[in-house]
Amino acid sequence: MEYQAPMMSLSVFVGVISILVGIWAAIIFLLRLYRLPKFPKSRVDAFLQKAWRGPVAHRGGVPENTLGAFRVSKSQGASGVEVDLTFSKDGHPVLLHDATVDRTASNGSGRVADLTLKQLRELDVGIKYGSEFAGERIPTLNGALDVCEELDLVLFLELKGGSTDNVLRTIKEMFLERPHLADRVCLVSFWPWMLYKVRRMDPKIMCGFTIRREELQYTTSGEPKNQELWKHILAGLVDRAVFWSTHTWLWEVLGISLLLPYKGDILEKRIDPDLWYGRGVRLVTWTVNSDDEKTHFENVLRMPYMTDYVRRQGQRYQADTV
Ligand SMILES: *[C@@H]1O[C@H](CO)[C@@H](O)[C@H](O)[C@H]1NC(C)=O
Repeated sequence: MEYQAPMMSLSVFVGVISILVGIWAAIIFLLRLYRLPKFPKSRVDAFLQKAWRGPVAHRGGVPENTLGAFRVSKSQGASGVEVDLTFSKDGHPVLLHDATVDRTASNGSGRVADLTLKQLRELDVGIKYGSEFAGERIPTLNGALDVCEELDLVLFLELKGGSTDNVLRTIKEMFLERPHLADRVCLVSFWPWMLYKVRRMDPKIMCGFTIRREELQYTTSGEPKNQELWKHILAGLVDRAVFWSTHTWLWEVLGISLLLPYKGDILEKRIDPDLWYGRGVRLVTWTVNSDDEKTHFENVLRMPYMTDYVRRQGQRYQADTV
């Protein structure tokens, strides 16, 4: 009997290789097809020139996501503010970090998506942070833009996941009504598809991709975010997939020129600034709070950062000094 096995396995081998090459070619083709134009680095540089004049106040400062906080942060030397965009039940853009008002409002509760703009504007979101902040309201996006222009602050506007209709409509209107904001406002998000949709609508809009290697699996203080084991494992796999994708193909498909890595990923060398600078991508980090870290990012890495404490020595705002 003839011995044929080697011939068989050679043709199987050739077949498998052909399929793999075909899949690879298809992936490359799709990535090129869907890749968005790269955002001009010069515009990011002009924006960061302004952001470099001082720290960027994380959540705008204290009380978070309020106009009063913008003013305090400015008086303490902030160059800009980072705030969170969300929507009232009747579709108005407002600034709030959580899905509910429970943590920040003293006299109301519930999901922001279940409250109308009128109901949201009645809440006091200042007094929990100190009596001197009593009466602070949840700002509308327009109110926030007015104050940023008045105080010459740059704005990092964070987009959450979820429905994109409100987000796209709001952003389109914002830049139609205030085209001069194109170099003062940067849209940032942990959610790549959100940035993709924004840039597909208008590639001239400046966007930054926020990234933390363990974002879904652990809090920044190292606590697991998910109690069930399978969720914990799944979160870890997704985190790694996003981190790997960002480094290999996602950054190019998004066409971004600004990445916002978590400070820990830089300090622990999981993010290599030189790799990104070589790709023409600028970096802004968060949330840099201690004096030592501030010195390191300012003088050694020379990287703009967001902070909960605009002033040094972890000092909080004190009413008597403003
Ligand atoms: C919440 O408190 C403020 C005063 O700080 C008040 O003006 C407002 O009417 C209150 N809103 C509600 C819903 O009770």
